[in-house]
Amino acid sequence: MASSVLHFLLLLFFVVLPTTFAQQSFRPKALVLPVTKDASTLQYLATINQRTPLVPVKLVVDLGGQFQWVDCDKGYISSTYRPARCRSAVCSLARSTSCGDCFSAPRPGCNNNTCGVFPDNTVTRTATSGELAQDVVSIESTDGSNPGRVVTVPRFVLACGSTFLLDGLANGAMGMAGLGRTNIALPSQFAAAFSFRRKFAVCLSSGRGVVFFGDGPYVFLPGIEISGLTYTPLLINPVSTASAFSQGEKSAEYFIGVTGILVNNKPVPLNQTLLKINREGFGGTKISTVNPYTVLETSIYNAVVSAFVRETAAKRVAAVAPFGACFSTEGVGSTRLGPAVPEIDLVLQSNDVVWRIFGANSMVSVRDDVICLGFVDGGVNPRTSIVIGGYQLEDNVVQFDLAASRLGFSSTLLGRRTNCANFNFTSTA
Ligand SMILES: *[C@@H]1O[C@H](CO)[C@@H](O)[C@H](O)[C@H]1NC(C)=O
Ligand SMILES: *[C@@H]1O[C@H](CO)[C@@H](O)[C@H](O)[C@H]1NC(C)=O
Ligand SMILES: *[C@@H]1O[C@H](CO)[C@@H](O)[C@H](O)[C@H]1NC(C)=O
Repeated sequence: MASSVLHFLLLLFFVVLPTTFAQQSFRPKALVLPVTKDASTLQYLATINQRTPLVPVKLVVDLGGQFQWVDCDKGYISSTYRPARCRSAVCSLARSTSCGDCFSAPRPGCNNNTCGVFPDNTVTRTATSGELAQDVVSIESTDGSNPGRVVTVPRFVLACGSTFLLDGLANGAMGMAGLGRTNIALPSQFAAAFSFRRKFAVCLSSGRGVVFFGDGPYVFLPGIEISGLTYTPLLINPVSTASAFSQGEKSAEYFIGVTGILVNNKPVPLNQTLLKINREGFGGTKISTVNPYTVLETSIYNAVVSAFVRETAAKRVAAVAPFGACFSTEGVGSTRLGPAVPEIDLVLQSNDVVWRIFGANSMVSVRDDVICLGFVDGGVNPRTSIVIGGYQLEDNVVQFDLAASRLGFSSTLLGRRTNCANFNFTSTA
């Protein structure tokens, strides 16, 4: 009797332990997440498996977002949901000093003695307060060429939003995935969970693109490794750009130092004051995935549009909203890098460091025979003077190295005979 129990225990030991060990000893070097574009909202969506039992949760990707937030009011069922207790380590990681109770039946998003943060719908610029929590998240690892084994973060930090906060998000989205510059945004949490560098890269596509967490290589079919990125410092905006924040909080968004704009290699006259971030946090240039197109402060917009109109041979036609400068495609050549139109360069820390925008990223096809300059007027006195939007990022590898505080960019992959939809998502696990 005793020996059979022992035998059973030994069996259990040998059967169960090796698999647990194997799971824990596998340390991924990088992770990969597919990102698709929603045709009606032009938002970029990622589906991340989470909770217990695991369910796919569709989220809008917010490059500058502070953390992952989800609707906890409806359908949040998980045996591993843990609210963040006041003054716990998770609360300080999230820099939350609030502490609250909830006066209805306990459920995810409603627990006593929990700390809270401000989930922010950055599309509609609406924020609410919500419980901070932890739950299981699972994601595929990668060697840079294919997805590999699925790995799990047992206590991934997230925030609870409410159902109303989903207004304005793509159909089926249950929240937003923040990739911003905070301790609890996805890049830092994954880096901490698997001890890799605080670095990630996005390669957006009009179809299915990809986000890599951790280091490269970044390999796209047919076996093209994207290296030789150009680098520019990431800048910090000292004033939060979130819809709700506490005094002294810095922005979690990614700013870079654009010092000028060239159209067809000729400088566009710009008000230099607008290009710098001032003490109140106004001005400067940021990168955003919640803006479908690049947004320029009015004087910058007008200067770029008139330079572009002057430099292009294409015939201008009636504007199609939201764009202000549209052209007939008649007589416009098409190249591997998109319509043959003047190149637009964003000049960075020196004249030889430029982010070059070719036709594929500058021109949007609105009808068979009409293309428009894919920039929109941001009005006078906007918070940020230049917001580089999703369309201008597509088919470019853009790498955010938080540890080195620098941004690396590839310019268009079309020039390297591949594109962001060419990641091979066939798992090798
Ligand atoms: C929180 O505590 C109050 C007072 O003890 C109680 O009425 C309430 O039901 C509790 N809420 C939850 C979600 O447990
Ligand atoms: C440049 O922009 C700043 C900030 O908006 C403004 O105060 C200033 O008047 C502008 N300068 C010119 C020459 O328009
Ligand atoms: C994608 O990767 C799989 C697994 O390595 C491989 O079998 C397949 O041939 C690849 N696809 C292409 C188009 O090369």
